[in-house]
Amino acid sequence: MKNAPHNQESARKLTLLGSTGSIGKNCLDVVRQHRDLFSVRYLSAHQNADLLIKQAMEFRPHGVIITDPQFFENTRKELSGICRVYAGMEEMLAILEDPETDLVVNALVGGAGVMPTFTALRYGRDVALANKESLVVAGRLIMDLVKQKECLLLPIDSEHSAIWQCLQGEDRETVKRIILTASGGPFRDWPKEKLTEVTPEQALAHPNWNMGQKISIDSATLMNKGLEVIEAYWLYNLPVDQIDIVIHPQSIIHSLVEFRDGSLKAQLGHPDMRIPIQYALTFPGRLDLNIKNFSLEDIGELNFEKPEVNKFPCLKIAIEAIREGGTRTAVLNAANETAVRKFLNGEIKFTDIARLIDKTLQAHNPLQEYRLDEILEIHDWAQQYSHKISL
Ligand SMILES: NC(=O)c1ccc[n+]([C@@H]2O[C@H](COP(=O)([O-])OP(=O)(O)OC[C@H]3O[C@@H](n4cnc5c(N)ncnc54)[C@H](OP(=O)(O)O)[C@@H]3O)[C@@H](O)[C@H]2O)c1
Repeated sequence: MKNAPHNQESARKLTLLGSTGSIGKNCLDVVRQHRDLFSVRYLSAHQNADLLIKQAMEFRPHGVIITDPQFFENTRKELSGICRVYAGMEEMLAILEDPETDLVVNALVGGAGVMPTFTALRYGRDVALANKESLVVAGRLIMDLVKQKECLLLPIDSEHSAIWQCLQGEDRETVKRIILTASGGPFRDWPKEKLTEVTPEQALAHPNWNMGQKISIDSATLMNKGLEVIEAYWLYNLPVDQIDIVIHPQSIIHSLVEFRDGSLKAQLGHPDMRIPIQYALTFPGRLDLNIKNFSLEDIGELNFEKPEVNKFPCLKIAIEAIREGGTRTAVLNAANETAVRKFLNGEIKFTDIARLIDKTLQAHNPLQEYRLDEILEIHDWAQQYSHKISL
């Protein structure tokens, strides 16, 4: 990092997009634990104005953005004299130009996070990225920009943070493969035939992690692991064949790297997102973090098994999409977002999620090369197309 926070004389200023979500709240808890090292420049929410107002009262940012404009007037009234209030995506993109921001944390969910990642990098800001959909939709363009602007793209996803930690001090040429761990989700032990009966409530109840709705459903279908393979492909510039997945139900090992001498490095810890969030904020240093003590004796055993791709076809569909490359992963992302929303609304079954994504991909004429406007247009097309599909 250009400046490690503990070497800086003043607090490091964060712009936190999606502060009212699961990652956003965990990030503010990290800031709360290190008030002398971090301050908040901007916060954002989409509709949860009540929480955004509360957060602004506590953290006193320079400004907040509420992206759904219907909540603007009330937010502005409540925060009058506290901070500036902006509305809508365009204003969110505009505040990313602010040179006072030291680090942008993108904790938005879904394709809405793509333009903010892209714009922050275009303005030369370092980005701590939770929004994996940015790389799934526009991985090549984003990684090109990271190189061109010499910015840091710091992973927050626990698996990618684990790999990144294992790679410190290592020559990338010596990496044989990376192994992403997956909890297997709530239906790991269910027979395949029973998956048609899964309800949204059951799918939202993740065994180890407390997360937002979309990623909880993605974890239940194993699409999340597919999205993470795509994320790792771009972040670590590795062919898909060098990215493996192992089911590890305890979620204690967050991922591993195998080197060519047969040695493996793993990163372990409680399934608590504050650990990878803080690492992204303090890299290359480490700070204390007030979380429960880690005890291998209490954990007792760690288990591993192969993922069942026939039972969870979303994983296979995602891996095929990145293997074939080009615009396919953007279509995959858009169709998945539609399918998750439809499942949560009770419009389709759990097992229809993969079918809807597959049908959308089949209707797409992929491009290998693309510009930003083209990929966003294709993402929009796939959202509309998948919305209208009847299964
Ligand atoms: N949660 C985890 O533990 C975890 C772990 C690893 C990676 N991630 C990744 O981190 C990202 C965030 O996940 P999350 O679980 O924190 O999601 P979340 O709880 O649903 O929070 C999403 C945040 O984005 C805002 N938002 C939603 N739709 C928006 C839109 N159209 N425009 C602008 N802002 C919008 C929400 O505002 P409102 O609250 O006002 O709706 C909220 O602040 C995802 O990409 C996820 O895959 C999450």
